[in-house]
Amino acid sequence: MYRHLLVPLDGTELSMSNVSAAVQFAGAIGARITFFHAMPDVTAHPAALRRPGSGKTGTARPSLADFQARTQAASRALIAKACAAAAAHGAPYDTLCVVDDHPSEAIVRAAQQCGCDLIVMASHGVSGLRMLTRPSQTLNVVRETKLPVLVTRVQATDRHAAASRAVALIQDEHRSLSAVIQGMLHLVADARGAESAGFDRSTFERLLHYAVEFPEKHHYPSEERTLYRLLRERGDQDRELIQALEAHHVDEHGLVGSLRRAVAATPAGVRVDSGSDLATALDALAAHEWDHMRLEEYTLIPLALEVLTEAEWAEVACAFEKSYAPGHAASPDDAFDLEFASIAGSLKLPIAHPGPARD
Ligand SMILES: [Fe+2]
Ligand SMILES: [Fe+2]
Repeated sequence: MYRHLLVPLDGTELSMSNVSAAVQFAGAIGARITFFHAMPDVTAHPAALRRPGSGKTGTARPSLADFQARTQAASRALIAKACAAAAAHGAPYDTLCVVDDHPSEAIVRAAQQCGCDLIVMASHGVSGLRMLTRPSQTLNVVRETKLPVLVTRVQATDRHAAASRAVALIQDEHRSLSAVIQGMLHLVADARGAESAGFDRSTFERLLHYAVEFPEKHHYPSEERTLYRLLRERGDQDRELIQALEAHHVDEHGLVGSLRRAVAATPAGVRVDSGSDLATALDALAAHEWDHMRLEEYTLIPLALEVLTEAEWAEVACAFEKSYAPGHAASPDDAFDLEFASIAGSLKLPIAHPGPARD
């Protein structure tokens, strides 16, 4: 049986679904994972920065250093989300990030260097003339490696593309939230020991801001406006489940309030006991979030997959879609991706936890 999987990341919805499939597979067979990301070498393409439309109207176009920093931040954000997914399934993992403009070659090399025995990738599934002119990275890897390649999803033959996209986007948002909650748990754990430098309050407050604002302003309203509403319109069948999930959204306010009060009462630099108000309030919020995400991923979404139409899933996907890419203008919802990318660098990678994984 396979012992060590290489899972390449590229930030697309396919890559997100691939991470979910790979961590479930790794958890089931007891394998470990190395998440791999090949960042583009932006210094090799300075012309791209001068391309018309590469900066926001009325603002300065990004400098090379700025573009590089954003690319690195986006890469860290990708890795942090993948690690949160692995931790939720209890799959041991490692990470590897390189700068390389030839992703398929970099993937083959990384798999060899890390001693992996299986590469797990998704494919866009192009065929015919297009396959010859624009082969997918997956196809290139299959051609170039001697290792077996497990293809978890082929988009072109996927009859439920909108549903897959919507589910991948929802899971991705859950992963970023999980990664930030893990980051807060680490900060509190780090403030515990005798050798500790004490509570890093300013970093904690940055993470808490994202952990509260992102669900409240984007994720929960998107769910309630689309997924919950569409299911409710189907009749009484899922009414109780949706009521319970909506109640979770509301209950969170009380847990956040307790945590904010505990943070306000905890000066920077102090040691934090495991039984302190801060640790207790954070544990309560983390457990609440993970229970909620687990209920959505393993009960609500499977029910929705049975009853919603492709057009309805397209509506759901649209509510969660963000289009930010380094060097391009950001919409208000994209601002959360930017915020996550900026805090991802300060996140310690998560350890195994009872996150939104199947029991
Ligand atoms: Fe929710
Ligand atoms: Fe959710």
